[in-house]
Amino acid sequence: MGGWEDRRVRWDLRLESPGPATRVEIACGASRDLLRDLEELSGTFFLVLDQGFQEGHKTLAESLSEKASGVALIPGGESHKTPEQLIRLCSHIVGAGLGRGDRVVVLGGGAVLDLGGLAAALVLRGLPLIQVPTTLLSAVDACLGGKCAVDLPEGRNLLGAFHFAERIVVDPELLGTLPKTEFSSGLGEVAKYGLGFSKILMDWLREIPPLNAQTSPKLLEELVHRCLRIKSDVVLEDPWEKKGLRRTLNLGHSLAHALEALAGPDTLNHGNAVALGLRAELRIGKLSPSEQREGEAFLDHLGLPNAFEQVLPSTPKLEELRVFFSRDKKREGEWIHEPRIHSLGGCHVERLKASSYLEDAFSALV
Ligand SMILES: NC(=O)c1ccc[n+]([C@@H]2O[C@H](COP(=O)([O-])OP(=O)(O)OC[C@H]3O[C@@H](n4cnc5c(N)ncnc54)[C@H](O)[C@@H]3O)[C@@H](O)[C@H]2O)c1
Repeated sequence: MGGWEDRRVRWDLRLESPGPATRVEIACGASRDLLRDLEELSGTFFLVLDQGFQEGHKTLAESLSEKASGVALIPGGESHKTPEQLIRLCSHIVGAGLGRGDRVVVLGGGAVLDLGGLAAALVLRGLPLIQVPTTLLSAVDACLGGKCAVDLPEGRNLLGAFHFAERIVVDPELLGTLPKTEFSSGLGEVAKYGLGFSKILMDWLREIPPLNAQTSPKLLEELVHRCLRIKSDVVLEDPWEKKGLRRTLNLGHSLAHALEALAGPDTLNHGNAVALGLRAELRIGKLSPSEQREGEAFLDHLGLPNAFEQVLPSTPKLEELRVFFSRDKKREGEWIHEPRIHSLGGCHVERLKASSYLEDAFSALV
C-alpha cells in the first residue's frame, strides 16, 4: 500500500446505543459506486436532491433518479430549511409508498442534508438514511453526527432530532462545481477544527497550498478525512450531547448563529459567520498575545473574514443581536455554555454570563 493516493478511507461510527453503526466512506469517485451499492441493497429508496448540486452533476443525478421510487428536488440554502418544506417532503416520501425497510438518500449541502435527514427521522418514525454531502461545509461537518433540523421564525435549527445515517459517502470530486463563496464558507468549519481541536491540522493547513475550489480532489479527500475524524471522535464520546463534550463542536457558533439569524436567510453564509465567531473568541479568550496573533494569521491564511463589514452590508447593532443570541440552544437562563480556546488546537466548554460574552465578542469585532 502506498501513500494517501491509494487509500479509500472507511470507518464505522459505533454508538453506545443498540442499532447499526454509521459507515463513513471518503473517496474520490465514491458517488459513482453509490448507484451499484443501492441496487444491491434490499428495498427501494427515495432520493432528495439539492438543486444547486443537481445542476452541476446532471449525469449522476439522472442515473440515481431513474432507480429511485421518488425524487424531490429541493433548492439549496437556508431559506428552504423550513417546516413547510419539511412537511411537503414528508408527504412526498409517504406518497412514494416507502415502507420501513426502504431508505432515504440525500445528496446536498448542509441545508438539504438537515432537511432530508429530519424527514427521514420523522416518516414512519424513522427510515434508514444515506447522506452524501456536496459542499465543503457539509463534507467536513454537517454530514456526520446525527443532528438534523429545520429553522423556525424564532431561530435557527429549533425544530430537529437526532437521526444517525446508516452510511455517509463523501466524494470530493463532487465539490468541483462549488462557487468560490461556498467553498470559502466550508473553510470556516475547517478553521474551527484547527483552532479548537488539532494543532496538527493547523500546521498541515499552513504547509499545503492555499485551499480553493480548484484544489485537487485528492487533497480535499485528505482534508475531509482529517476533519471528519475529529468530529467522529467527539461524537462517539458524546453522541446525544449529554456530557457536554459535544458542545465543543459549537466553537464560534453562538455569535455565528445570532449573526446569521439577524442577517436573514441566505445573506451571510454559515462558514463566514463561524469565522467571525472564531475571530472574536481568539481576541477575548485566554490565549497569550503571540498565540492570538498566530490564530488570527491562521484564519487570514485560510482567507476568512476579520470584520463584520467584509461579509455584511453594515455593522449589526448589539441590541438587535441580543434578541437572537437569547434564543441560543446552549442558553440556560442568563448563562450560556460556551466553547473557549484554551490553547491553539484545544478547547473546552465554560458556563458564562451570556450577556457579558456577547458584549465582549461584539466589541472584539467592531
Ligand atoms: N447537522 C449538522 O451537524 C450541521 C453542521 C454544520 C452546519 N449545518 C447546516 O448546514 C447548512 C449550511 O450548509 P452549506 O454551507 O453546505 O450550505 P447550503 O446547504 O446552503 O448550500 C450552499 C449552496 O450550494 C449549493 N450546492 C450544493 N452542492 C453544490 C455543488 N456540488 N456544486 C454547486 N453548488 C452546490 C446549494 O444549492 C446552495 O445554493 C446550515 O443550514 C447549517 O445549519 C448542519
